[in-house]
Amino acid sequence: MDLQVNWEAACPHCRADCGLLQKASGSLQCPQCTTAYPQIDGIWRLLAPGRAEHFEPFLRDYTSIRLAEGRGSDSADFYRRLPDCPANHPLAWQWNIHRRTFDCLCRRVLPRLGSGLKILDLGAGVGWLSHRLAELGHHPCAIDLSLDDQDGLGAARHYSPCWPRMQAEFDRLPFSAASLDGVLFNSSLHYSTDYRVTLGEALRVLRPSGWLMVLETPIYRRSESGRQMVDQRRAEFERRYGTASDALPSQEFLTWRMLEKLAEQMGIGWKVMRPWYGWKWALRPWKARLKRKREPARFVILIANRR
Ligand SMILES: C[S@@+](CC[C@H](N)C(=O)[O-])C[C@H]1O[C@@H](n2cnc3c(N)ncnc32)[C@H](O)[C@@H]1O
Ligand SMILES: [Zn+2]
Repeated sequence: MDLQVNWEAACPHCRADCGLLQKASGSLQCPQCTTAYPQIDGIWRLLAPGRAEHFEPFLRDYTSIRLAEGRGSDSADFYRRLPDCPANHPLAWQWNIHRRTFDCLCRRVLPRLGSGLKILDLGAGVGWLSHRLAELGHHPCAIDLSLDDQDGLGAARHYSPCWPRMQAEFDRLPFSAASLDGVLFNSSLHYSTDYRVTLGEALRVLRPSGWLMVLETPIYRRSESGRQMVDQRRAEFERRYGTASDALPSQEFLTWRMLEKLAEQMGIGWKVMRPWYGWKWALRPWKARLKRKREPARFVILIANRR
């Protein structure tokens, strides 16, 4: 399936852990249930039957909002430089946050984890992180639902990727058990509709000493603050784009209590790293308190290890 790496694929439909066979047509096929998974425009289509239809309303709303927000570009150079982004881009402030998270990851986390690792970039979007991980000598695989040419896996064509791109879902990863070194959710875990299922599936594909990382999922002290954020966001989307973008019951945020509970239930421990996002960001909780507003979200890097 990949040019350099032996990815141990498994069927996302029947979940049989007996590999996928490459057919003369180029498609992959499950030897157990015979479901075929083609590669189209360089992207493996690894959603089980019926799942593309299930995600269609979510993707329609999500993509229309993202493009209306001014994401994406016609320039290959724009994608190749990410997370660095021109200062006049409408979402430069958001890319600035991604860049700081990525710097922290590169300086303080990745060097301790080894080299040449097989890493899933889950909810990879355009694949910029996979591109950067490959530059660092790792073997990423970009997974996302979206095939969009500007905001989804279609945009990864700008990298001439030597790493696989797969349309697949968090909760049915097309890999054998214990076959990967790392799993990374970058600004994506909060789209999960059930954290236990999604994290359970990520842990399934990890080798015993593998690591799971969560970046840029909003975390609150109080769940009430998270719920308020969701209500505000939905109202704003409805007003600006004509849809609340709530086709799926995504979790949308985490709280420290939820993280503790998940750790207990899943037999993992969380290590927390705090990237520095600048003074303005650091002062947001104080400002919110003074103005009696809802607490702002925190972003940290969460690293889970099995206990
Ligand atoms: C906010 S974007 C983050 C993209 C990228 N990681 C980045 O940091 O630029 C979240 C991504 O998660 C993807 N996503 C949401 N739910 C998913 C699911 N159940 N399975 C796979 N991908 C999903 C979306 O399609 C979207 O591209
Ligand atoms: Zn199968």
